[in-house]
Amino acid sequence: MSSPSYSSYLGRPAYCAMALVLLLTLLCITFPAYLRNPVSVASCFTGADVRAAAAQPAASASAALVADDGGRRPDQLSILVGVHTMPKKHSRRHLIRMAYAVQQTAALRGAARVDVRFALCARPMPAEHGAFVALERRAYGDVLLFNCTENAEDGKTYTYFADLPAMLGAAGGEGRPRPYDYVMKVDDDTYLRLDALVKTLRRAPREDMYYGVGLPFMDRKSPPFMLGMGDALSWDLVQWIATSDMVRRKAKGVEDVTTGNWLNEGGKAKNRVNIFPRMYDYKSAEAKDFLEDTIGVHQLKEDIRWAHTLAHFNATYGDLRPSREGSS
Ligand SMILES: *[C@@H]1O[C@H](CO)[C@@H](O)[C@H](O)[C@H]1NC(C)=O
Ligand SMILES: *[C@@H]1O[C@H](CO)[C@@H](O)[C@H](O)[C@H]1NC(C)=O
Repeated sequence: MSSPSYSSYLGRPAYCAMALVLLLTLLCITFPAYLRNPVSVASCFTGADVRAAAAQPAASASAALVADDGGRRPDQLSILVGVHTMPKKHSRRHLIRMAYAVQQTAALRGAARVDVRFALCARPMPAEHGAFVALERRAYGDVLLFNCTENAEDGKTYTYFADLPAMLGAAGGEGRPRPYDYVMKVDDDTYLRLDALVKTLRRAPREDMYYGVGLPFMDRKSPPFMLGMGDALSWDLVQWIATSDMVRRKAKGVEDVTTGNWLNEGGKAKNRVNIFPRMYDYKSAEAKDFLEDTIGVHQLKEDIRWAHTLAHFNATYGDLRPSREGSS
């Protein structure tokens, strides 16, 4: 993520007031389908009928672009992919939403349930961005709003992992069914090939597992940390992060190194799955600069890089001649 420059908002009290109203509205109105246990969210209401009325629009939204059939087979591998982005980047979110929606094929669903969600901090939330976020939550149900302030190194990754168990109704650990086997954090300038991701995770240990592109590159077997372009943890480690005092004290810092530090200091993540070099930085549009067994491409800062990458992986094939009657 690029560093936001929000200083201009800070001096404008009108925005603060609007943002607060909006935040409260956002926290209470929508009940996206992925919150299978709505209790934690519903606690911001006391009136059940308000709750029911508020839940209506989200429940009836078709959310066709979002793979969410409400549940999963007990034996099905499940992965939460959290795309870390900022409220103002609506256009990028929609590009990413579609780039993953077209990958939700029958074959992929047969192999795993992959829920792609956008992880946003609730602050700052100026009204013009809040409107998009609120509509997206209702229309697609794929936005997770965290109680944090957008700032790359101010602990957003900590908040993401630490707040998820409660957000998914799975706080409390032992005995609770895990909502996901793995939780991934991915940048909004990374494109993942979900089938390749799933293939590698199917073979990975389900417990005490840390997945990504390890650094330093020499340490292939047990890299001290995985690059933040896309790293994943098994659910038990997410729960550990949510409950560890040590981790909470060390929440801030360069996010990927920091995640590695928590695990190293806590004696966690005995299982490290290093996918180097299969997730890598974009170099050019030329075919030779994409690997055949690519899991992810990073540094897709500009839309044109997305265009090249999507074209290379055949996500955008089809002609662009003007539509005719009877064709779309
Ligand atoms: C959000 O976090 C702040 C501390 O960072 C806390 O004071 C506040 O109560 C939290 N809000 C909610 C809705 O959890
Ligand atoms: C894209 O499609 C072409 C033509 O069907 C095929 O030759 C090529 O291997 C595909 N590329 C990828 C990356 O799947």
